[in-house]
Amino acid sequence: MSSAASHPAATPEGAHPFPHGHLTGIDGLQPWEIAFLLDEAEQWVALNRAATKHDDRLAGLTQINAFFENSTRTLLSFEIAGKRLGADVVNMHAAQSSVKKGETLLDTAITLNAMRPDIIVMRHGSSGAVQLIADKVDCPVLNAGDGWHEHPTQALLDALTIRRRKGAIAKQRVAICGDILHSRVARSNILALTALGAEVRVVAPPTLMPPAVERLGVTAFTDFDAGLDGCDVVMMLRLQTERMKSGLVPSAREYFALYGLTRERLEKAAPDALVMHPGPMNRGIEIASDIADDLDRSAITEQVEMGVAVRMACLDVLTRKGRGVEGWV
Ligand code: CP
Repeated sequence: MSSAASHPAATPEGAHPFPHGHLTGIDGLQPWEIAFLLDEAEQWVALNRAATKHDDRLAGLTQINAFFENSTRTLLSFEIAGKRLGADVVNMHAAQSSVKKGETLLDTAITLNAMRPDIIVMRHGSSGAVQLIADKVDCPVLNAGDGWHEHPTQALLDALTIRRRKGAIAKQRVAICGDILHSRVARSNILALTALGAEVRVVAPPTLMPPAVERLGVTAFTDFDAGLDGCDVVMMLRLQTERMKSGLVPSAREYFALYGLTRERLEKAAPDALVMHPGPMNRGIEIASDIADDLDRSAITEQVEMGVAVRMACLDVLTRKGRGVEGWV
């Protein structure tokens, strides 16, 4: 995918704005479907900044957040999003569930389904696990991150942050930097940002660069300074040591020296380059604290704020069919 002109943001005449029963990934979404979700999220940014943050459209619906991996941002923002829309929100933490007694993922899904939820939000450590569940249950399923595969709402909230800060996504030069190999955030962002017409670069040590990554429509750099050159957005990624089988980086100190974002390094990017990080951050490993905390350059807390709005939009849109909303039935 290349130019903004070939990626219309508006839904083509006669097309449904979002014809999908689940959101398991950015893969398979049309550019206008991504833009539609971002447009829908804007109203929730405004509501979330109001004194009273409540809308009743999901009243009477049950939302189960089934998290088989740890989370702070995604779990809490899905919980807040559901509650602000009036849903009854229930969190299932795998560590306190019968998964610990050996129950399989499929049996867990059948059990959750029997409780007649109206939407399931799921995070799992295995790529494809969320699709497996989506194929088995009767309600919409939202992927809150599966293995190395996708984290679609993270990409949507990142796209919304860029669009609000930069005015547009098309033609922005975005560098996604760090542990690309293990990152579902990188994969979903590459798919979303290229679909919306951004010029995407990936920057990583050779050991953390996925093979043939250029096939996703990005340019790969192993030299951090060269990759940052002239970029409008610098998106840093967490070094995911928990997903590494062996030492793919020599040491945290050497990694920071070569691939850590410092104020000096940021000067290679455009003068008004926006710094992003999905969190959680390893300060002093992939990003220096003074950059992360510089509100003139860093959009990290804004990303978290946009996360609630994007997740409200996804919960609303995916439950429209079940709620009998006109045009969705
Ligand atoms: N960005 C992200 O997914 O953060 P959590 O793991 O805290 O949800």
